[in-house]
Amino acid sequence: MASKKIVVLISGSGSNLQALIDAEQKGELGCGKITLVVSNKKNAYGLTRASNASIPTFVQTLKQYKDAGKTREDFDRDLAQHIERTEAPDLIVLAGWMHILSPAFIDMFRGRIINLHPALPGELDGAHAIDRAYEEFKEGKRLSTGVMVHYVIPEVDKGKPIMTQVIPCVEGDTLEDLENRIHAVEHQILPRAVRQVLAGSGQTQ
Ligand code: GRF
Repeated sequence: MASKKIVVLISGSGSNLQALIDAEQKGELGCGKITLVVSNKKNAYGLTRASNASIPTFVQTLKQYKDAGKTREDFDRDLAQHIERTEAPDLIVLAGWMHILSPAFIDMFRGRIINLHPALPGELDGAHAIDRAYEEFKEGKRLSTGVMVHYVIPEVDKGKPIMTQVIPCVEGDTLEDLENRIHAVEHQILPRAVRQVLAGSGQTQ
């Protein structure tokens, strides 16, 4: 079967990128092959993970754009065009990509972009979801949180869910304990969701 091209967008550590690389190497991504890793931060450790796996990388920072007097829309449109022109990917995976994408990017790839978010659908949208879940647990307002992989639409963290998993908050947990438990689940769920979407059994957006 012909392989399907995956482009992964990251901003930081890239532990979820690593989970995808490991899954691909074990044959667990189905026909998926990561052909490019994009970062909006030049020092992101995920770039090293990509290089270690001989995956090409591309860095485009907002600072470059701001310094040149260009807008976020310019950033998004140029990035979309670069990715489409060089890769024509079957799937774009936002794995810790800390930049809200505008329609200038999303419209190019509708139905071909998925995002990993450390919370359940309809809860804790946006940044710092784990910290907010932990605070709510401490205040007695929640007993669990979760993780989801979902299609990307312009509304942040609102696209149709592909895969979700509930994660209990445990009495005595530090924030770090909860973070570690969430990340361990993310590393399991993201490769499975990618495989499912590429196999065509994911819901469409
Ligand atoms: C993950 O928790 C992901 O859900 C969130 O950012 C984090 C990225 O971690 N959007 P990493 O860079 O993959 O280690």
